[in-house]
This record gives sequence, C-alpha cells and structure tokens, in this order.
Amino acid sequence: MTAPAFPDSEARYRSLVEQLPAVTYVAALDASLPASYVSPQIAEFGFTPEAWLADPEFWVKRLHPDDRDRVLAEFERGIAAGGPITCEYRLLDAAGRPRWVKDRAAVLRDAEGRPVAIQGVMLDIEERKRLEAETAHYLAQLQALRRRMETAIEEERRRIAREVHDELGQALTALRLELALLGDGLAADAAATARLAVMDGLIAKTIDSVRRIAYELRPGVLDSLGLLAAIEWQTREFERRSGIRCELALPEREPEVEPARATALFRIFQEVLTNIARHAGATQVDVGVAIAMGNLLIEVDDDGRGFDPSSPEAAESLGLLGMRERAAEFGGLVSLHSEPGRGTRVTLALPLTQPK
Ligand SMILES: Nc1ncnc2c1ncn2[C@@H]1O[C@H](COP(=O)(O)OP(=O)(O)OP(=O)(O)O)[C@@H](O)[C@H]1O
Ligand SMILES: [Mg+2]
Repeated sequence: MTAPAFPDSEARYRSLVEQLPAVTYVAALDASLPASYVSPQIAEFGFTPEAWLADPEFWVKRLHPDDRDRVLAEFERGIAAGGPITCEYRLLDAAGRPRWVKDRAAVLRDAEGRPVAIQGVMLDIEERKRLEAETAHYLAQLQALRRRMETAIEEERRRIAREVHDELGQALTALRLELALLGDGLAADAAATARLAVMDGLIAKTIDSVRRIAYELRPGVLDSLGLLAAIEWQTREFERRSGIRCELALPEREPEVEPARATALFRIFQEVLTNIARHAGATQVDVGVAIAMGNLLIEVDDDGRGFDPSSPEAAESLGLLGMRERAAEFGGLVSLHSEPGRGTRVTLALPLTQPK
C-alpha cells in the first residue's frame, strides 16, 4: 500500500507527529479505503511502516491473545459510540515480546457523518505497567509479612498466657497450700497466725492477678467458647473496670469463623473499647453484633465527646490505622462516624469467609 497523499498543510502536522515519542496512526475502517498511515516510530516495536500498512490485519494479529477480544470489543463499542476510544493493551513486537501501550483514538467521519477511519496515538506505557506490577508485588509481600507477624504475636501471646497461667498459677496455689499446713502447726501463736492470714490473702490476690493477666494476653474463651463469648466477656470486663454502662446485643447463633479471622475481629473490638476508655469520656456504650449477608457486623456507639475522624492526626493515628489494616487484610472495612460533642460510632464489617 502506498503512503497516503497528505495535503501540504498536513505535511506539517505529519512532521510534527513524527517527532512525538509515540506511534501515530490512521486506520481505514473499510479496507477499500486507501488512507492508512502509521508513523515511523513503529520502528520502536521492530516494524517498518511498510510492513504494517501492507496487511490490514497487521495490528489485530499483533495484539496479545489475552487482550485481543477485549480490545476489539472496546474499539467496536467506541466506533459505534462515535469515539473517543481509550484502551490499554499489550502489543507483540517483532521479537514476539508483549509491550504495554495506551491507545487513544478518535473516529473520523465522511461528509455524510459515516465513520470511515480511526486516528490515534499509541503511547509506550511499559515502564508504568512495570512499576505498577512491582508496587503490587511489594504490597502483597508487605501484607504477607504483616500477617506473619500478627500470627507470630498471637502465638507468642498464647504461649505466654499459658505459661503464666499454668506455671505461676500452680506455684502460687502450692505456696498457698504450704502456708495452710504451716498455719496448722502454729495454731498456738496468735501473732504468727495473723501474719499468715495476711500472706494468704496476698497470695489469693496474686493468683487472681495472674489469671487476669493471662486472660488478657489471650482470652481463653476466644479459643474455647468462640468469638461471641469473647466479645461478651470483653464488654463485661470493660464495663466493670471503666464504670461505663454497656448494652450488648448478640446474634443468636455463633458465626463460623476461622481462628485468625476471629482474632482480628476481637483485637479490633478491643481497640475500639480501649479508645472509648481512653478518649471518649462516655457514660453509655452500645455494642451490637449481627450477621448479615455473609458478614459479621459490629457496631459500637458511645455518647462521649467525639472527634473529627477526617483530621490529619486521626488519619495518621496508629490505633485507627491498625484497625483499618487488620480489617482490610480479611476483606473487611472499618467506618467511623464522629463529631466533636456528639459521640462516636465505629462500624466494623468483615466477611465471615475469604471473598473469592
Ligand atoms: N471513641 C472515641 N471518642 C473520642 N475520641 C476518639 C475515640 N476514638 C478515637 N478517638 C480520637 O482519635 C485519636 C486516634 O485514635 P487511635 O486509636 O488511633 O490513637 P490513640 O488511641 O491515641 O493511640 P494508640 O495508638 O495507642 O491507639 C485519639 O487520640 C482520639 O483523639
Ligand atoms: Mg487507640
């Protein structure tokens, strides 16, 4: 096929487009129409304009097989709609290597308004695509690392909780028994007996502390009785310690959640309560748990002083960020509604199983 006959004024445009770092082209929609053009920059892909123009199917044949149907459909749709067309795809260069391009085309019409050709620009976006892929790769690695770390931390907590509970708990109980035996032998000495009673009281208190510490490290209920029981326990514990009244509404059936997911939900819930205790100055908290459309929903309302979640401090704050990231890891979402003076509502929605 011969090069198109450009009028003089177009010769200037032609020299202009031939200096762009992009491939410019005109493609006739009807093979009987002669005017087709591709700029010499096509040499970047290892082709000559002559080879490109000699075969009307050249471009279609060089489309990456995985992209071809999508690209052709997109062009068809764009032409029917009268353009413009924007689409990204891989073009196979002369060596058969896929190269990412961004194609932007306009539809040219004849005097009757019928589309006769498309005119477009193909930009090399290889570098951007490479960076995108690299970023996605690092992000996935970072998330995997985060998950591994969290699993390791939970494991470690579980181990420490067990040791504290078993080792210290048992040693203290043994000490208490020994003390009781000693007391029997000293029955006549009133002063010593009184001192023993004080010691016994101290040991009893220490046993309680050990139990509590172990439980806080890793609430056994989470493993034995499940998530709802753990949420209930945490709510009651919060109420008892903070003195803030809590209403709790739980669903009737226990949701089926894998341990890592249950742990994430529980830790987020703990952080929400901790924030209320630390920042809200609330007098009443409402906790609602529900299961809807494969999601577990937890809503926590407090009537405290509220804050501005869109403020830069809140956006960068680690507690809130951690909640969001933990939720996102399992395909979930944390949303915050709060205004200074009007309390805070935190809503957590997390799929019960990994979304496909
Ligand atoms: N329920 C709430 N009521 C009022 N203010 C809140 C509430 N929850 C969070 N905030 C505000 O949002 C800020 C960010 O919370 P975030 O949990 O990220 O950080 P933090 O609790 O201050 O520290 P940490 O990193 O230890 O959690 C808090 O400092 C507080 O000002
Ligand atoms: Mg916090």
